[in-house]
Amino acid sequence: MMRATELAHLLMRQSLKAGDRVIDATTGNGHDTLLLAELVGPTGRVFGFDVQEEALASTARRVDGLPQVTLIHAGHETLAEHLRANGQDRLAAAMFNLGYLPGAPKDIMTRTETTLAGLQQALAHLATQGIVTLVLYPGHPGGAEEAAAVRSYTRGLNEDFAVTRYARINASAPAPELLVIERLH
Ligand SMILES: C[S@@+](CC[C@H](N)C(=O)[O-])C[C@H]1O[C@@H](n2cnc3c(N)ncnc32)[C@H](O)[C@@H]1O
Repeated sequence: MMRATELAHLLMRQSLKAGDRVIDATTGNGHDTLLLAELVGPTGRVFGFDVQEEALASTARRVDGLPQVTLIHAGHETLAEHLRANGQDRLAAAMFNLGYLPGAPKDIMTRTETTLAGLQQALAHLATQGIVTLVLYPGHPGGAEEAAAVRSYTRGLNEDFAVTRYARINASAPAPELLVIERLH
């Protein structure tokens, strides 16, 4: 079975091109940031957000000075403010990988309220045909509630957006899932 994170990568590979502006809303260990940086190339921009110094340091090591990456030590709920400050408007993509940093204390994790605020801001800046991916972890403590809130929010989006859910439905425990939001108009 393809993992939710792998499928998100595949979709980004298909959607992005050199020069695009994109967001990694949760840089963590930087796997998504590195992929985004490779896809948008030196003429593009990747804005990466995380609330943990440790995550940003790990991401910085992984992207090893690529000039198209700007790492921001702040929550994704402030992304609109940072895009404005950087003179950026339209985004080709945003990736959210929710939950906690693997290997770090689990008390720092994404929270429903800030996740929804960040998502709302990313969608407000999303270009036509742009995509947002969200990897949800309903099996983590607090993750089921957060996943339910995100699904419920996306169900209420108007028809400018198409929302697709990729989730395993025959597992004995809740498995990670992927939500994909595409701006149609
Ligand atoms: C599952 S990890 C991300 C994994 C990462 N995308 C990768 O490829 O390695 C989730 C990250 O979200 C971060 N986080 C928690 N709350 C946040 C917030 N409000 N804004 C941005 N990042 C946040 C955590 O510090 C953690 O590093």
